[in-house]
Amino acid sequence: MNLCVVGAGYVGLTLSTVLASLGHFIYCIDKDFHKITALQNNEIPFFEPDLEDLLIKSRKNIKFTTNLSVGVEHSSALFITVGTPSLPDGSADITAIHSVFNELNTIITEHKTIIMKSTVPPGTCEELKSKLTLPNELFTIASNPEFLREGHAVFDMYNPDKTIIGISSKDKTTVPLLQQIYHSIKTPYIITNLTGAELIKYANNYFLATKISFINEFARICDTFDVEIKDISKAIGLDPRIGKEFLQAGLGYGGSCFPKDLKALQSISIKNNIDTPILHSVQEVNATQVKFYINKLKNLLIDLKDKKITILGLSFKPNTDDIRNSKSLSLIDELLLSQSNIHLYDPISNLPSSYQSIVTQHTSLEKAIENSECLILSTDWQMFKSLKWEKIKSQMNGNIIVDGRNFWNKSLIESYGFTYIGVGRP
Ligand code: UDX
Repeated sequence: MNLCVVGAGYVGLTLSTVLASLGHFIYCIDKDFHKITALQNNEIPFFEPDLEDLLIKSRKNIKFTTNLSVGVEHSSALFITVGTPSLPDGSADITAIHSVFNELNTIITEHKTIIMKSTVPPGTCEELKSKLTLPNELFTIASNPEFLREGHAVFDMYNPDKTIIGISSKDKTTVPLLQQIYHSIKTPYIITNLTGAELIKYANNYFLATKISFINEFARICDTFDVEIKDISKAIGLDPRIGKEFLQAGLGYGGSCFPKDLKALQSISIKNNIDTPILHSVQEVNATQVKFYINKLKNLLIDLKDKKITILGLSFKPNTDDIRNSKSLSLIDELLLSQSNIHLYDPISNLPSSYQSIVTQHTSLEKAIENSECLILSTDWQMFKSLKWEKIKSQMNGNIIVDGRNFWNKSLIESYGFTYIGVGRP
């Protein structure tokens, strides 16, 4: 089948590549000329494991272009995968979606199914239906939100735990169409209305973020009562009603989705006069987690001014170079308030230019650690798992280790004379 994917970001590119590997021909559109030129040369503008190999294998089935008309003309279905970033008030900015729909008004001349994959506020697809000035018989709008995790996007695209399809009441064609598109992907299908599908996406991310903030708040309780949070996570995770995933205590969640989607949901609730105290608290715990552990560090070092502090990891989680809403940036902001001398190492991510003159990013882990008073692990990259603690002790000036992801063996580290601060690991 010929398909068009509008928006060659992280979701659009993964979708295009996987659909191409299933035998479809994909027109992958982006209005960013430089991005399209790079993609035409198989250069992916971000790090995502397995994506480049799959792209090269499926390359004959993908055309990268800035020309939306060409993609629309040759395809029966269009996937919308453009970004919906946060506006200053927290609401989702759907300008890019509106501009695609404005263009579609002038391009579509025969029936197309328009499938919304971008995360949009409830009611957006219904509203877009009424904004298209085309005759009704020329288009069908459906919602099919994505649940990809960065770092596992290709795997998740082939192995979704569910496929949500939101359709209008009289739409009999979209479900079989999407089942045909995803033909060899085994997945349960949940069929709902357009707004239901939009809300399922928010509910999913809200619930996962809630689990993380719950366990992070509970870690604070564990800190006081001399109990390991890992024991709590393991025990409650065995209850099938709770489940073991997303109970890993740490410095909090980051990334492009959870913070943005929870803020958008908060803004939607405010606009509709809906009281959402849990939603507020989930974000509050997440926003204060870094400060909570920096305060523990201050109890030990007293004055952080001019002290060399080394942060290990910059990306919001391992296996991605994405630093959006990374807790490493929150750590930097917090340490800057104390005028610390901040150093950083990450295997692939780079500091944004606004931080480059105030934080020293090293390309050598050894240099980052040398003469440091304290190491703070922010991103649990596998390469940090087996650090040689004896050597590190001799390289550092101080002896404090803050394990912001509960990634290391506490007693092993302590055996080398370090003072270990974990998250809920007294
Ligand atoms: C998330 C959702 O998982 C995905 O379904 C959605 O479509 C996009 O948002 P992603 O942002 O890639 O995916 O990352 P995810 O693996 O979910 O982790 C998000 C954040 O939570 C990371 O900062 C991670 O370190 C943190 N996290 C995750 C925890 O702190 N504890 C956990 O137990 C799990």
